[in-house]
Amino acid sequence: QTDQYTLLRGRILDFHAAPQDETDTEAYRYIEDGAILLAGGKIKATGAFAEIVALAPDASITDHRPNLLMAGFIDTHVHFPQVQVIASWGAQLLDWLNSYTFPEETRFADPAHGAAMAGQFLDLLTCHGTTTAVAYCSVHPASVDAYFTEAAQRNMCMIGGKVMMDRNAPEALTDTPQSSYDDSKALIAKWHGKGRAHYAITPRFAITSTPEQLEIAGALVTEHPDCFVQTHLSENHDEIAYTAELYPDAPDYLGVYENYGLLTPKMLLGHSIHLTSREIDVLAETRAKPVFCPTSNLFLGSGLFDDAGLRGRGIQNAIATDIGAGTSYSMLQTLNEGYKVLQLQNQKLHPLRAFHWITRGNAEVLGLADRIGTLANGSDADIVVLNARATPAMALRMQRAQTLSEELFILQMLGDDRAIEETYVAGVPQKRDHAGARPEAV
Ligand code: GUN
Ligand code: ZN
Repeated sequence: QTDQYTLLRGRILDFHAAPQDETDTEAYRYIEDGAILLAGGKIKATGAFAEIVALAPDASITDHRPNLLMAGFIDTHVHFPQVQVIASWGAQLLDWLNSYTFPEETRFADPAHGAAMAGQFLDLLTCHGTTTAVAYCSVHPASVDAYFTEAAQRNMCMIGGKVMMDRNAPEALTDTPQSSYDDSKALIAKWHGKGRAHYAITPRFAITSTPEQLEIAGALVTEHPDCFVQTHLSENHDEIAYTAELYPDAPDYLGVYENYGLLTPKMLLGHSIHLTSREIDVLAETRAKPVFCPTSNLFLGSGLFDDAGLRGRGIQNAIATDIGAGTSYSMLQTLNEGYKVLQLQNQKLHPLRAFHWITRGNAEVLGLADRIGTLANGSDADIVVLNARATPAMALRMQRAQTLSEELFILQMLGDDRAIEETYVAGVPQKRDHAGARPEAV
C-alpha cells in the first residue's frame, strides 16, 4: 500500500568506509537531489529523487531541501543518571565522582526520578540528532527499566545496563557480587533483544568493583556472549595508580579486565588514554574497543586520546559524549573538540572521516552497521536532517563554502542542536520544535 510510504527529499550523504579526504570518493555516497523511501520504520530505498519517486508515486513527500540527510548519530558512551551532573565545576576524575556524580546517582533509588530523567535524557539525545546511544544506568535495576521503557516508547535502538559497583562508593550506591549478578541476569532476560533494546553488562571500573565482582561479571559475559560489555579504562593518572594498588597482581590496568575474561570484541572501554604498549597489544588481540570522549577528557583534564596510534595498530575505536563529564549532548560538538584533541597531537581529523565516525564508524564498532549508521536499503529509518545555515554565524560562513567537505566542517565546528532540523527514529519525526517536544506531546 503506497499510502504507507513516506519519501524524504534532500541532499544525501552516507558512508561505505572511513574516507581520509574528499578524493576518497569510493568511501561515501553523496546525492545532490536525493530521496529516501521509508515504510514500517525501515529504509526501503535510497537514491536519486527521480528514481525513488517513481518507485512510490503516491508516497507522501517531506521536502528537506536544501538540508543534508544523514544516518542518525550514535553516542557510544554516556551516563544517563548524570543529566544533572553535566557542568559541575572544579574537579578531576576521582574528586568529581565523589563530590558530584555519586551523590547524584543515589537519587536514582527512586524509580519515579529515574523515569522522569530517562524521558528527558532521550528527548535531549534526539534533539541533538542522536538516535542510538550506549548508556550506563545507575546501580538500581529500576533505572534500567526506566531507560528501556522510555526507549521502547520512542522505538529507539538503545544499549545500556545496570552499573555493577560494590566498593569505594557511598553505601546507597553499592551492590554485592551476587546481587549484581542476579539483577543483571534478570535485566538481560527482561530487556535484551526486546524490540530494539540491547543489554550491556556494566562493571563501572576496576576501582568500584572487588575481584569477586569482576569475576562474576566475567561469568555474565561468558553466559551472555551476545550482550555488550562496557567499562572505563585509563582515563586519569590517579585512577591508574589507585587501580594498581587495588589489583597488585595485574600487569597493568587493562590486565585487570583481561584476567577476569571481560575482553571481547563487544567490550567498550571508555577513555583508554594512558595505555602501555602491552595494553595496546592486548586491545589489538582481543578486538576490545577503545572509546574516545573528547569533551569529557578536556573537561576533567584527563589527557589526549591517541587516535592515530590506535588506528595504526588496526584497533577500531568509537567516539562518544560521556555526559555528564562530557560537556555537550551534541555529536557535532564532540567532533569539534575531537578535532582539537587530535590537533594537539599533530593528528588530522578530516570532516568526511569525522561524519563517518559518528555514524557508520560507531555502528561498526557496535557490530550494528547492517541496521544503523547508514542509509542503505533495509536499514532502520534513523535519520538526521542537518542545516549548515542554522545560526547567523554558520550562514555567514556558508556564503564562502564551496565544497561538501567545507559544509561538513562548518557543521562539525559550529553546529549543535540548532543545526539538527529534524531527527527521525524508525521513520517517526521526533523534533518538530527546538524545545525537543515529541510529536505526540505537541
Ligand atoms: N569512571 C568511572 N565512572 C565514571 C564516570 O561516571 N564518568 C567518567 N568520566 N569516568 C568514570
Ligand atoms: Zn563514562
